[in-house]
Amino acid sequence: MTFAIKLLLFVPMVVKNEGQEIIVTSVNNLASYSLVTQIPSGSVPASLAIDGDKFSCSRTKGSSVTFQVDLMEASIVTGILLTFGSCPPTHYGHLCSRSCPKNCKGPCDLESGSCIFGCINGWTGNTCARACNSGRHGENCVEECSANCIIPQCNHETGECINGCKDGWQGLNCIQKCPTGQFGKNCSEFCEGCLSRMCSNVDGLCENTTACNPGYIYEEYCNKTCDMWHFGKNCTKNCYCLRGPCNVFTGDCPSGGCKNGWQGESCDEVSTKSGSVAAADNSVISTQIGLFIGGFLLGALTMLATYLLVIIKRKLRTKQGMKFCLYINIEIASQKYF
Ligand SMILES: *[C@@H]1O[C@H](CO)[C@@H](O)[C@H](O)[C@H]1NC(C)=O
Ligand SMILES: *[C@@H]1O[C@H](CO)[C@@H](O)[C@H](O)[C@H]1NC(C)=O
Ligand SMILES: *[C@@H]1O[C@H](CO)[C@@H](O)[C@H](O)[C@H]1NC(C)=O
Ligand SMILES: *[C@@H]1O[C@H](CO)[C@@H](O)[C@H](O)[C@H]1NC(C)=O
Repeated sequence: MTFAIKLLLFVPMVVKNEGQEIIVTSVNNLASYSLVTQIPSGSVPASLAIDGDKFSCSRTKGSSVTFQVDLMEASIVTGILLTFGSCPPTHYGHLCSRSCPKNCKGPCDLESGSCIFGCINGWTGNTCARACNSGRHGENCVEECSANCIIPQCNHETGECINGCKDGWQGLNCIQKCPTGQFGKNCSEFCEGCLSRMCSNVDGLCENTTACNPGYIYEEYCNKTCDMWHFGKNCTKNCYCLRGPCNVFTGDCPSGGCKNGWQGESCDEVSTKSGSVAAADNSVISTQIGLFIGGFLLGALTMLATYLLVIIKRKLRTKQGMKFCLYINIEIASQKYF
């Protein structure tokens, strides 16, 4: 079922405040051959509301304003979109011709241009033109730079430490502790020698300082590996490999067997066959690494408009003192009904 419509009537009951202007503009394709009337009329022609330019608005004021669009001929209205708002969120001033300050969070005051909803992170002041003071960042500049910044200064918007992180910390804001087994500047050092690789994130001091992993001399950082020809816990074992020293961590000898009188993978056992190189010891040892559709009764449209107006009224209460634009967009089928 479709309905032809010739006249749209809107009564913006929202305008209750004497003296406050209502600005009316259309978004785009409100039929340009239509006639628009507003009662009472305002300081600029009502036709500015339907010229398709969002930045040109009609203006009127009064406790009761009637807004009427005569489509000139009965037409099939395929969609109607009413948007109440202020200027586009980025603009303010006469006919919304001025840009809001770039660091406003959301729309700015329609008259003064001040940032009524605050600033984006890192900025402060009425027009959000002032960066946070040194040492602070974030929303309303209330956050302090991380205590883990090398110097107590950080990017006022992001909080990124200016000169990097103190030892033991990483991430832009230096709030991530080094992962287990890592420590120091940028967490670039490793405490492989500590038991379970547990050490201080700052300087690498082992959590358990009574012992180290095999291949390290026992002391509190476990960062000194065994001298050549030594291996095992606290480097207490010797390896008597024939072709070079053993791996200090595993004790494995390079292939080639053991020196005379020794046997085992680490050549640390006294040979049972004295005087000869044990054949068993010649075994190779490996190493590892590892979006309104058409036909509505006028009544329905009026109800909708009223509904929207009521919603806007509520919004307006929260933005007291703000002027507002009414964006009207009526879609009309390309073929006329008559
Ligand atoms: C730490 O990381 C920063 C950023 O990745 C880099 O500029 C700096 O050279 C690094 N410092 C060290 C000691 O690795
Ligand atoms: C430290 O390591 C030693 C040797 O593995 C262990 O006996 C001891 O319980 C550990 N101490 C702590 C506090 O974990
Ligand atoms: C072991 O750690 C200590 C303490 O950080 C450091 O002074 C020393 O140079 C390190 N030794 C080696 C061999 O890395
Ligand atoms: C580890 O070895 C060193 C000598 O290499 C020695 O002085 C120290 O007492 C040893 N520590 C333990 C717990 O065996």
